[in-house]
Amino acid sequence: MTASSRAQSFDAAAEQYAANRPSYPAELFDHIEEFAGCRLAGARVADVGAGTGIATVLLRERGADVIAVEPGEAMAGVFHQALPGVPIVRGDGNALPLAGASCDLITYAQSWQWTDPGRSVPEALRVLRADGALAIWWNTTAFDVPWIREQHERIAHHCGAKPRSAVRPSDGDAIRLAGLTGLRVARRQVRWSRTVSLDTHLANIGSRSAFLVLEETDRRAFVVDERERLGRTFPGGKVEETYVVDLLVALRP
Ligand SMILES: C[S@@+](CC[C@H](N)C(=O)[O-])C[C@H]1O[C@@H](n2cnc3c(N)ncnc32)[C@H](O)[C@@H]1O
Repeated sequence: MTASSRAQSFDAAAEQYAANRPSYPAELFDHIEEFAGCRLAGARVADVGAGTGIATVLLRERGADVIAVEPGEAMAGVFHQALPGVPIVRGDGNALPLAGASCDLITYAQSWQWTDPGRSVPEALRVLRADGALAIWWNTTAFDVPWIREQHERIAHHCGAKPRSAVRPSDGDAIRLAGLTGLRVARRQVRWSRTVSLDTHLANIGSRSAFLVLEETDRRAFVVDERERLGRTFPGGKVEETYVVDLLVALRP
């Protein structure tokens, strides 16, 4: 399975994605403002890999003037239905369809990993104003919660992937892995949780790219097994999902 087919897989489940994926905590945006040295209110922000608009909504609630960039047709379609007045252009982070020096902030919520930093970093620097910032983040696995760690291992096994290490990369490794070496980078982790129905939790899991590239029968087999297992762990039918948002904010050197 290529990275590119995973990057494009979201289009097959855009509505499922919008309805079930987790959002992001308010504190994340406080850290972005602090590290970027600018207020979101009134800032010109490009939200790249905007998907169905989960992060875009929050940026707009903070008063940002957002333009969204999204390669997927179906994801962009759901975005447009949810946020009809917000501009969205088709394109990707490796060749941003935006003018030079036109943005104060570029955000990538769970989408930076689909870019090639050898292209997406120079593109971000081209589009950012002189004192602009690039903010990238992910809702990552809370490995210290036993059922979440065990589920992570089951998912990796089912999808034929190596489970990720429970040890978080150091700041230096995280910066290097993201391809941000040479920039001034600040990192912050924010823990948060949400409580959702078992159905929402399973639909959230099923909207991950690792599942979207599986055959339907393989995907369904996991969900059936997981429903039974989690039904025993959460007999009330409510699941507390815990996340650790890993945020990197990069500035010009
Ligand atoms: C996990 S979703 C994140 C969507 C949204 N930002 C959110 O927070 O829910 C990843 C998104 O990245 C998009 N994507 C894939 N390849 C990309 C690329 N090269 N540049 C920018 N976005 C890309 C996908 O189409 C998808 O909408």
